[in-house]
Amino acid sequence: MIQLIRGFRDILPGEVEIWQRIEQTAVALFEDFGFRESRIPILEHSELFARSIGEDTDIVEKEMYTFADRRGDLITLRPEATASLVRSYIQHRVYAREPVQKLYLIGPMFRRERPQKGRYRQFYQIDAEIFGVHSPLADVELIFLLVTLLSRLQVTDVGAHINSLGCRRCRPHFRTALLDFLTRRSELLCSDCNRRKARNPLRILDCKVPGCREAMTDAPSILDHLCPDCQRDFATVQSHLDGLGVPFTVDPRLVRGLDYYTRTTFEIQTGALGAQSAVAGGGRYDGLMELLGGPDLPATGFAIGLDRLAEIVGFDRSGIARGPDVFIAALGGDIRSRAFEWCCRLGVDGIRAEMDFEDRSLKSQMKRADRLGAARVLIVGEREVQEGAAILRDMQTRDQVAVPLNDLVENLKQKIHNTSD
Ligand code: HAM
Repeated sequence: MIQLIRGFRDILPGEVEIWQRIEQTAVALFEDFGFRESRIPILEHSELFARSIGEDTDIVEKEMYTFADRRGDLITLRPEATASLVRSYIQHRVYAREPVQKLYLIGPMFRRERPQKGRYRQFYQIDAEIFGVHSPLADVELIFLLVTLLSRLQVTDVGAHINSLGCRRCRPHFRTALLDFLTRRSELLCSDCNRRKARNPLRILDCKVPGCREAMTDAPSILDHLCPDCQRDFATVQSHLDGLGVPFTVDPRLVRGLDYYTRTTFEIQTGALGAQSAVAGGGRYDGLMELLGGPDLPATGFAIGLDRLAEIVGFDRSGIARGPDVFIAALGGDIRSRAFEWCCRLGVDGIRAEMDFEDRSLKSQMKRADRLGAARVLIVGEREVQEGAAILRDMQTRDQVAVPLNDLVENLKQKIHNTSD
């Protein structure tokens, strides 16, 4: 038997309803905050990601699904959405009409990481971006949105962590101070970190290897190296989060795994997912637009890991898959034909009706209605036809009422609406 690819997975009915609820909640909230959806390709030129995420990141170095297409062009299955959204904003010159854009996107991303719980090779993100706003209030809005979404989904055991990564002006000073410190600690660092030292030293702050963590306890803090503008912005973010009642932790070790970030960055972390603690991450990336050949405009955004979020939502999962409003148990060929038409007409009116297409006993039809979680069963056999009324049984209370066959669809609709009000 051909199995699915390692690190990929099927989200089947039963679980998919949870995803749908999350997506619907997110879309409603985003739209209320003025965000609009963008649908863009899953495949892009590899160079887009190499340039934006950074050649020296884990994603670009070893995790991208990159291949040559039939013409030999190098293309990549997107590992994230930000670079593509920026590409699209530049390509269509959206900035010339209205530079401020609030966008969202929900879809699959691909990274060839080592699969484990909460980490997949095809995973889904809910992504939101604000283009064209310098003010740190845009960062606050995004964090607020994220926290509000999680609260609507009844997620507990999460915390917002924030940091500032400085800007073109101040980060080089921090980098020098960090490199200085790392040179003195190099024998304590793991081989990965020693390799990273020259090209991407900030990532060492984030290394999970215990030896590295210990070696880095007294590492210099980026927050001591911020220029006055970055300091002011970061203070604004914090005071507005306080004002909005959003709890947060300042974490100078939060460096993120993509190179484009500047100034405020953030993550939502949870203890509920084992090693994969980040449910969402994001931040400002003011230089990316220009780096990709567009205007020098600021941007900020986040992405939520939908696979991880689906594991920790707090709403009641049991009742979420909706069963049929009514199962029509028809006995006999002619009655089944009529039942089929009733089902179609009820469906058009928003009432979910199911039936059995085969000639089965009442007992087996009742069993199936039960398995499907039908709220009611409408029983129609020879006797009911003779008497001119079907029997409608409430599967929970076991109460039964007669429903006239004459104008059955209308009668049934009324009964169902009356009982579900
Ligand atoms: P990221 O931190 O790489 O950021 O990914 C965001 C979220 O996607 C993570 O917090 C995690 O929940 C989820 N995620 C990442 N990799 C996997 C995986 N292999 N399996 C399951 N879930 C995963 C970004 O992608 C940035 N583009 C976010 C952003 C938007 N920054 C600015 N705008």
